[in-house]
Amino acid sequence: MRVRRTLPPSAAPLSLRDLWSGFKGFLAGETYLKSLEEGIKEYFGVRHVFLVSSGKAALYLILRSLKSLRPVRSEVLIPAYTCFSVPSAIVRAGLKVTLCDIDASSLDFDQKLLGEGVTNRTLCVVPNHLFGIPSRMDDIVELCRERNVFVLEDAAQAMGGRHGGRLLGTIGDVGFFSLGRGKSVTCGSGGIIVTNSEVIGRAIDREYSRLAFPRTKDDVVEYMKAVMMSLFIRPQLYWIPAALPFLKLGRTFFDSGFTAMRLSPMQAGLCIDWRRRLESAMSVRKKQAAMFCRRLKGQEPVGGVSSLPYLRLPFLVESRDRKRKICAASNRKGLGITQMYPFPINDVPQIAHRFAGAAFPVARFVAERLVTIPLHEWVSDKDRDEMVRLLLPAGSGHDRETAGSFDVVRAADGFVGKERA
Ligand SMILES: Cc1ncc(COP(=O)(O)O)c(C=O)c1O
Repeated sequence: MRVRRTLPPSAAPLSLRDLWSGFKGFLAGETYLKSLEEGIKEYFGVRHVFLVSSGKAALYLILRSLKSLRPVRSEVLIPAYTCFSVPSAIVRAGLKVTLCDIDASSLDFDQKLLGEGVTNRTLCVVPNHLFGIPSRMDDIVELCRERNVFVLEDAAQAMGGRHGGRLLGTIGDVGFFSLGRGKSVTCGSGGIIVTNSEVIGRAIDREYSRLAFPRTKDDVVEYMKAVMMSLFIRPQLYWIPAALPFLKLGRTFFDSGFTAMRLSPMQAGLCIDWRRRLESAMSVRKKQAAMFCRRLKGQEPVGGVSSLPYLRLPFLVESRDRKRKICAASNRKGLGITQMYPFPINDVPQIAHRFAGAAFPVARFVAERLVTIPLHEWVSDKDRDEMVRLLLPAGSGHDRETAGSFDVVRAADGFVGKERA
């Protein structure tokens, strides 16, 4: 175990004030829940808000509700490169995962393939705004309206982001955010459903009324986890949890046995200052992203807009080997540059058999070459210098350990589909 300053890949700090509000939440009954709900309604301009135990619980609840509205449709179309929690929730809801390959320059659906993928069995399409990069919502909504398919926006990583002035999560028929670790605002674990549709709101309400609150002892455990997280997420201490393999930090899992509950008043207490935290996190990340983009001269991040409030800054590098070297060097130096999802959804072992014979080459290309740069408030000038040295092309003062012939694949080059020599 090496004792050294280590940056977490992403981090949403919890202050003493937040922890105190969480503690008061144990005594506050439902007032903190009401206040959080009202605040979300006002900020997002939505009529219905439901607060649940995680993003995947939110997705599961929405899917069950949509299924109750259109029981003859059983397929959910998702991007072939996304968080493994997404197919977990679909399977848990008793629906069928269908995949569409992606566009490497935005991680959004490949629009042409999306048109072919939406059929009369499709219940909903789930655009996912990965890293906060807005999906092309106008095109997706138009296509789905034509075919009578719901648009379920997965804004787990995009709370507060906008597309054409409109807040992500509120553009489709229904959307959700995650309050999990490493998101914009966290209470350890939590999810928020938003919709303006009366019909969908009523259907979700029927499902939601069956959900229980967590037991007090589980809630106390969650609170203790939040206290630990608020301490150990700091770079001076993060090397401790990062060195404990059983914590499985940064790993993504397919687990369709998760519990779906309501958010507790304690968790709502931890989030009571969410609006200020969201705006401050977005402003820090925007500035960090812009500084990195300036320093990484001419090399565009995925998404291609340096002024986005990215959750982490994603780059496609030239080869699998280069990705491995960058991540290994970052790990040694405690810099927090990491890969994202290690393989496409069709390779998730629990569901891989359903996609035998199908290929999602761009999703695989991205899984093999994507690295993400941390953008949170603890990234210092010195950290940025070190990260830039790891990532810059040969001949520009790059790090010898990770050098490649051409280092960062420009988004403008699009999908290359094969490794560069
Ligand atoms: C795109 C996406 N969807 C859904 C989820 C699930 O959210 P949660 O971790 O709160 O269950 C995540 C979580 O990281 C995510 O990144």
